Amino acid sequence: MNSVADILLDWYAREGRDLPWRRTRDPYRIWLSEVILQQTRVAQGMEYYLRFTERFPDVASLAAAPVDEVLKLWQGLGYYSRARNLHAAARQVVECFGGRFPVALDEVRSLRGVGDYTAAAICSAAYDTPCAVVDGNVYRVLARLFDLDAPIDSTAGKRSFAELAQSQLDTAHPGRYNQAIMDFGALQCTPSSPRCEACPLAGRCLALAAGTVAARPVKQSK
Ligand code: ADE
Repeated sequence: MNSVADILLDWYAREGRDLPWRRTRDPYRIWLSEVILQQTRVAQGMEYYLRFTERFPDVASLAAAPVDEVLKLWQGLGYYSRARNLHAAARQVVECFGGRFPVALDEVRSLRGVGDYTAAAICSAAYDTPCAVVDGNVYRVLARLFDLDAPIDSTAGKRSFAELAQSQLDTAHPGRYNQAIMDFGALQCTPSSPRCEACPLAGRCLALAAGTVAARPVKQSK
């Protein structure tokens, strides 16, 4: 029988989105896309990603620019601390890593504006580092598939979801698997009207069997 990961990868090959940052293994470009997408939807972020990669094709050009130019290019995206962090992190890469984007997860995590999620997203996509991403999409997919009621905003809940996410990761294709589960949450297992009738995981979805899909994931603070 196929594993959950196999089914997700198979679904992704058919339904996944063709996005420009998925056509590159350049960690600089992948990092740029992840910072832009931290609080921005794909449809809006796309234009900014193209704009930034055109004006700053590599980390050195971004580091060399005045911060005001970066802020100007960021205009309209909001959360301007992201733009300041982007610029500061580019300078960190130049000053601390000799201009080469770091490879080790903890070094990537040490860059300004890069948290656990973003570090895992960058390293898996750029280097196939076997670390699972855990974002809102992943919480929802896993909470439904395993019918879990641990609150995703509790410390214990976060830890158990992180462990479960890691156990589900396809370690042969971590980069592709992470993009697949993100898209699966964004397009198929959506928050309010999931397409359960056309879901390749319906047969093994415990929340679907229990009738609790709409109640997953659980949050303690509403
Ligand atoms: N949101 C955050 N990271 C993303 C990615 N790599 N692809 C699509 N949406 C995302």
